Amino acid sequence: MLLHHQTWGEVERYLGGASGIVMPIGSTEQHGPNGLIGTDAITAEAIGRAVGEAVGAMVGPTIGVGMAQHHMAFTGSMTLRPSTLIAVIDDYVTSLARHGFRRFYFVNGHGGNIATVGAAFNEIYARLSLAEPGANRPDVRCKLANWWQGDGIPKLSKELFGDKEGSHATPSEVSVTQFLHPETIKPVGPMTVAPKGGFHDAADYRRRFPDGRIGSDPSLASPAAGKRVFDRAVAELVEDYRKFIAEP
Ligand code: NI
Repeated sequence: MLLHHQTWGEVERYLGGASGIVMPIGSTEQHGPNGLIGTDAITAEAIGRAVGEAVGAMVGPTIGVGMAQHHMAFTGSMTLRPSTLIAVIDDYVTSLARHGFRRFYFVNGHGGNIATVGAAFNEIYARLSLAEPGANRPDVRCKLANWWQGDGIPKLSKELFGDKEGSHATPSEVSVTQFLHPETIKPVGPMTVAPKGGFHDAADYRRRFPDGRIGSDPSLASPAAGKRVFDRAVAELVEDYRKFIAEP
């Protein structure tokens, strides 16, 4: 049930019996030699929509550009500054809360968003907490669910890709995009596993990880593996969404 595909009357009726909404959030940034620039937005959107369908929840518009300053030395990458992304999330949530949405379940596709999304939630909560006692404060709750961090996904990645999963431009995420969009698969030869480690700004990232990958071998990606990762992620987030909505 996509917000985009409803009329205002339909949204009003939905809010008569529910207050939850799934909010996909991704990123638009390099994903190594064969990963799509849109990997994190594509995966978060597809997984978020499948979760919404399974639980009968409304699904909001995808935030397709995230906090990816560290990828900016690679052509085609885009970023919102942390302060911009905080403002975007705050305005999305506050707009929808005005109409009666109360439970915001963000399905995230990008590790670089985590700290900023957490800061945005605290910005929203701080405004509610600072309101005068007795003020009419909506009972807003936000949750961030990183689709690749459910209980079973690391285990599945290990089974599929051993120690070649890595942490950026991973075979798991590339597989999911190959499953969703087989027409975009890029032919690529065998690779050695990319180096691991941390980084600071964009120039530093490119110096340490020249082709964009961190610790991964995405030449191992396949649509069949992508289907397994996708199905597992959706199943885990469906359960997690239900728990979130049922919280007292
Ligand atoms: Ni990614």
